[in-house]
Amino acid sequence: MSRFFSPRFAALTPYTPGEQPRDKKYVKLNTNESPYDVPESVVRAAEAAARDFRLYPDPTCLALSKALGRAEGIDPDRVVWGNGSDELLNFAFMAYCDGNTPAVFPDITYGFYPVFAAVNRVPTRIIPLREDFSVDLATMMKTPGTVFLANPNAPTGIALSRDQVERLVQSDPDRMVVVDEAYVDFGAETSAPLTEKYKNLLVIRTFSKSRSMAGARIGYAIGDPELIQDLETLRYANNPYNLSRVAIAAGEAMLEEEKLMRERCAAVASTREETSRALADLGFVLTPSRSNFLFARHPALDGGKFYRDLKDRGILVRHFDLPRIKDYVRVTVGSPEDMETFVKSVRSILEDEK
Ligand SMILES: Cc1ncc(COP(=O)(O)O)c(C=O)c1O
Repeated sequence: MSRFFSPRFAALTPYTPGEQPRDKKYVKLNTNESPYDVPESVVRAAEAAARDFRLYPDPTCLALSKALGRAEGIDPDRVVWGNGSDELLNFAFMAYCDGNTPAVFPDITYGFYPVFAAVNRVPTRIIPLREDFSVDLATMMKTPGTVFLANPNAPTGIALSRDQVERLVQSDPDRMVVVDEAYVDFGAETSAPLTEKYKNLLVIRTFSKSRSMAGARIGYAIGDPELIQDLETLRYANNPYNLSRVAIAAGEAMLEEEKLMRERCAAVASTREETSRALADLGFVLTPSRSNFLFARHPALDGGKFYRDLKDRGILVRHFDLPRIKDYVRVTVGSPEDMETFVKSVRSILEDEK
């Protein structure tokens, strides 16, 4: 740290992204990326957009909003675009939390939430997940503040139903609820339709997982036009050109591929169930994941050592050295071949433990 760094951030612990190693080729099951490449139409759109690099992109991202309207029936004035959903989550912490309105979220959830709270200097109220890792909605409802819920949750993969989200949103119209649906397309229920009915609900989604575009950095928030205006104010106060020309064009092309996207999500869900059964047969305990990852522990394995043993065998998964979950690993659902390799390595690790 230099002597010029503001003391405001001296104690800030930033987010630690999953490893992106370059030392050798791994079976990469650690950052919940899609195992499927984008279709050629998306590559062609990106290449064509690069020809106009000389020019700034459209700050309103209108082409993208219109394409989203065609694909998902969302009105353009009910959507705002972010450089990945992380940017919009940060804006939501800025917009809807302050000294009087804490950020409320579970103890085990997306690791960026505490960082967004810290960088925006807002207090937090942490609500422990229940013993079975389900969200304690009753306690959440009694806790004042803006609620941030990843649904499905990360890294557990457990989803709340739309009815459960609605009960929370309805319980207090004066409280903001932000639902982070990064993984919703893999088998959970979206709360997006509820945003038409409630003015205190923001739903944040991403192209990084189900649309195979983590590298393009495209996220969007859906909500009442007044909420969208809040986030637009912050976006124009930070970086009105937050989506590049290439991202806008590629995103627009991907929105023409909804059928392919749905088929791929179904394929990931089916690989997830197959892998889950194979792990359960080997004695693993798993959470009921509705996302594109599994969260698992084995009674005979230490989580940290299991992660290292897999890495030695060329397989990268994610281990969180945190209370309650240190014996778990989070495993992204890759291609069927990747998962076969993974299960084979798990078998050999269990053999070695005997
Ligand atoms: C729960 C959750 N929300 C948001 C994100 C961020 O996604 P994006 O790539 O859109 O910034 C992630 C990324 O892994 C995530 O796990």
